[in-house]
Amino acid sequence: MSVTVWWASPKHASPWHDELLTPGERERADAYRRREDRDRFVAANALLRLAVEQWLGHRPEIDRACIDCGKPHGKPRVVGAGLHASVSHSGDLIAVALSEQGELGVDVEMVSDKDLKLLLRYVFSAKELEVLPDPLAVFYRAWTRKESLLKATGAGLRTPMSSLTVLPESEYNMHDLDPGPGYAAALTVLSSDPVSVTELDGAALLKA
Ligand SMILES: CC(C)(COP(=O)(O)OP(=O)(O)OC[C@H]1O[C@@H](n2cnc3c(N)ncnc32)[C@H](O)[C@@H]1OP(=O)(O)O)[C@@H](O)C(=O)NCCC(=O)NCCS
Repeated sequence: MSVTVWWASPKHASPWHDELLTPGERERADAYRRREDRDRFVAANALLRLAVEQWLGHRPEIDRACIDCGKPHGKPRVVGAGLHASVSHSGDLIAVALSEQGELGVDVEMVSDKDLKLLLRYVFSAKELEVLPDPLAVFYRAWTRKESLLKATGAGLRTPMSSLTVLPESEYNMHDLDPGPGYAAALTVLSSDPVSVTELDGAALLKA
């Protein structure tokens, strides 16, 4: 099965991207106080629409209803098309992943120089902490693998990361992506079929 991941930057955000969002999403965009946060949100959700439109040849509705409260901040679902989608944004990077063959989740994280020791038990399972020689060295690999899985299932952080074991081996269909220096990223597909991942530059879509 094939998955396509588009990468872009919030720097490509343009005023016309607002028109691609739903009223609920525009309200969310306007609630951001920092311009860079607004741009990241708008460009990511615009790129989702533009990538889906390029794939399908038309622009279908994207349902963003949260499974808990109904507000438009949940897992994106392409209505009426057999296409699965996932979105992630962190720092100067945006990722949009699409596949026709299986539910999927993508996660990108900017690597920070924060002290991560206090987060070890939040992120790693007891088994991982027991067998990994240096959990801090693989902190972001574990984080992005787990978050991509939890985004694929739609549970998000309602399921504790520490309940999952994905290192040193993972039983899930997970792929570490290479977003470049200073970032970590991973993709999970809920299918046992072999996956081929194509990574594309989404800047052209956002500039079109
Ligand atoms: C999904 C989640 C792990 C993403 O966290 P994050 O690292 O901050 O953000 P990322 O940039 O990687 O991903 C955000 C995107 O994931 C998507 N997303 C949101 N909820 C999702 C879910 N349950 N499953 C899959 N994808 C989800 C959205 O497209 C979102 O984009 P947006 O912020 O532009 O709307 C986190 O939002 C979460 O755990 N959500 C579930 C809990 C929740 O929302 N509770 C609220 C109840 S009212």
